[in-house]
Amino acid sequence: MNVSIASSRAEGALVEITDVRKSYFSNRVETPVLHGINLHMQRGDFMAVMGQSGSGKSTLMNILGCLDTPTSGTYRLAGVDVEKQSRAELATLRNRTIGFVFQSFNLLKRMTILDNVALPLIYAGVSRKASRDRAQTQLDKVGLGELANRQPNQLSGGQQQRVAIARALVADPPLILADEPTGNLDTRTSNDIMALLNELNRERGQSIILVTHEPDIAAHAKRLVRLKDGLVLYDGPATEGLRQLKTDDSIATIAEAAL
Ligand SMILES: Nc1ncnc2c1ncn2[C@@H]1O[C@H](COP(=O)(O)OP(=O)(O)OP(=O)(O)O)[C@@H](O)[C@H]1O
Ligand SMILES: [Mg+2]
Repeated sequence: MNVSIASSRAEGALVEITDVRKSYFSNRVETPVLHGINLHMQRGDFMAVMGQSGSGKSTLMNILGCLDTPTSGTYRLAGVDVEKQSRAELATLRNRTIGFVFQSFNLLKRMTILDNVALPLIYAGVSRKASRDRAQTQLDKVGLGELANRQPNQLSGGQQQRVAIARALVADPPLILADEPTGNLDTRTSNDIMALLNELNRERGQSIILVTHEPDIAAHAKRLVRLKDGLVLYDGPATEGLRQLKTDDSIATIAEAAL
């Protein structure tokens, strides 16, 4: 197995996606969703992904997270060819490399939030005691240290989201994938979460790919990728990309008003 902490920490591109296409099939009918995506990301980058509903953002995130495979094209994660890995190797690679903050990644209801956060470490073979200690430290960092013994349903939506973030970060993965992490949260909680992600990126050099519909959230990123109908419409500095987005939106509004 060519996966090791050393290789996943090595210098070089963390994400290399080349001509990735993805279709969904149902009843033998093909629905193409991604039409040839190229994306390279170095360690330490902070990328926001934007695009209309249905443009393929979550489909791309599932591929980036090795939760789904492309129909064609290649994906190298931390220097490893994802499509050449066995299921077990892929699970190891994913555990060591990626922290997920996806809304569909629910917390386990019957466990305390401390044990929820400790889970990735237990999976990685860390002892129960050490896992719990690290989970407690991570919960302290997201401001929930005092609630460690509660179960998820005893927390607010924003607090649950912070638990999910603590769980994503506890094993210190080089890549954080966040699909609309502030989607259902109020402005203040969203800002807290963005401040936390910013700190991780700046101080720990963790790479972040974050899907959002909100320009204010995307403005925290260094780089912006805009998807349109399964293709990359823009890939560059976030400031310039958001300026273009604003122009495109006002042109669309004028066009709609003219109809
Ligand atoms: N499992 C699936 N089977 C069939 N089609 C799917 C499946 N998942 C997504 N799609 C379709 O693929 C397209 C892209 O979906 P995707 O979830 O990637 O969009 P998105 O950009 O994340 O949208 P949103 O902003 O609404 O979350 C949509 O047209 C969707 O209906
Ligand atoms: Mg989505």
